Formats: sequence, C-alpha cells, structure tokens
Amino acid sequence: MIAAPLQSAIAAAQPTVPRHVAVIMDGNGRWAQSRGLPRIKGHEQGSKAVGECVEGCRDAGVEYLTLYAFSSENWKRPAAEVQGLMLLLERFLDQKTNEMIEKGVQLRAIGRLEDLPRPCHDRLRRAIDATAANDKLVLTLALSYSGRSEIVDAVRELVRAARAGEIAESDVTPDLIAAHLYTRGVPDPDLLIRTSGELRLSNFLLWQLSYTEIHVTQKLWPEFTKADLLAALDDYSKRHRRYGGV
Ligand code: FPP
Repeated sequence: MIAAPLQSAIAAAQPTVPRHVAVIMDGNGRWAQSRGLPRIKGHEQGSKAVGECVEGCRDAGVEYLTLYAFSSENWKRPAAEVQGLMLLLERFLDQKTNEMIEKGVQLRAIGRLEDLPRPCHDRLRRAIDATAANDKLVLTLALSYSGRSEIVDAVRELVRAARAGEIAESDVTPDLIAAHLYTRGVPDPDLLIRTSGELRLSNFLLWQLSYTEIHVTQKLWPEFTKADLLAALDDYSKRHRRYGGV
C-alpha cells in the first residue's frame, strides 16, 4: 500500500496541463451553411481558429499540439472544396511561418504528405525546415492522414525489418510499434478535443489515443476560441487518469 503523503506527492506530480493536445477540428461546413455561405468560408474561418488555438496552447504551456487538418477520406470531397482547402493551407504557411519562428513554434506534419499538391508540399517542407530549431510548442498538422494507414505503414516497415533479419518476432512490442508510427518520439496525446458535438474518432491517431482523455464541445470549429480551449484544459485538469488501474 502507498502511504498517504506519497499518494498526495504523486497526485501533485501529475501535471494538470496536458503535455500533448490533439484536436479534431469539426463543423466548418455547418458553420458556413448555417450562415448561407459556401463551405469554403467555414474553412477560412476555421484557419483563424487554428491561429488562436496554437497561441492559446503555447501560452498555457502545452508542449505538443496535433491538429487533424485533412484526412485521407477528405480527398473524396468535391474538387473545388479540396482545392480551396489546399490553398488555405498554402496561405496559412505563407502568412504564419514568420510568426511561428518568432513565437518558438516548431511545425511538423504527419500523413501521406506525398499526396499533397506540389506547391503545398514545397511550402510545408520549407516551413518545417525554417521552424525546426523552435522549442516552445511542437505543432503537428495531420494531412492526408489516416490512423489505419499509419498502422499499415508501420507494419510494412516491421515486416521488411523482419525479412532482413533485423528483428525477431519476440522484438515486436507496443514500444517498437510506436517507434514506427509517424508520431515516433512524441508522447501520446493526454487530451483530445473534438468540436461540433460528434462522438467519433474518425480514423485519427488510433494507436496513440488509447488512454487519452476526451473533451467534446458543441461549439463548431470556426467559433472555437481561446476561452473554449481554456475550458477544455480546465476539464482535463479535473480528470483522474487511471490507465486501466483503480
Ligand atoms: C472539418 O469540418 C474540417 C476539415 C475537414 C478541415 C479542417 C481545416 C481547417 C480548419 C482549415 C485549414 C487548416 C489549416 C491548418 C490552415 P467539416 O467540413 O467536415 O464540417 P462539417 O462536418 O460541418 O461539414
């Protein structure tokens, strides 16, 4: 049995600010449609909310923020919407890279990035390189991302390593699998925020979210503010994480 003073010391040591926040930014289309606007206007407003969320996380002391910006399934949307989203991403990178450098934000991206149109891919590469030395907040954009494809890619790497005689069956552990995911080296998310009230994971970080606390808000992503972020962080600070224990 753990003595009471030690128990309270452990409780005090459990950080109240999540190290890693992941966000499913949902509701852009509904936000626009409810205002009689084209869907792309919702994505445009959603880009502004991205800026607020990044700033809010950085100021709150969050170390990693991972945003689900474009799923593998999103390629099935009408061509004009896909093109509009890619242009928004380019604009975001053009406008925000200097600010990221000033504010110590390191940009990363996960997903099948080779699927992105060339101008988008090139800008992304440049922004990633330009911010690589920053250490206040790691901002990861999930682009052309699918949690299942990420696991498939990891398994393929491991099969290749096994065929080459580099690993044995008994070497395959959760840690080894995690080390072959796109997120290798990044701690699993402590908190997942999903906007617009939907109760789904939508193929996002399927392995990494195993023990993550989930906060769902009815707010649509374009109207998600710093105050909503703080409410989510506050909700997280009251959770008692048990990781399957008692
Ligand atoms: C989900 O809303 C949102 C997306 C598919 C794209 C998210 C993109 C942005 C927030 C803007 C661009 C991103 C960056 C990083 C600059 P939805 O369209 O599925 O909404 P709906 O469910 O109401 O239709």
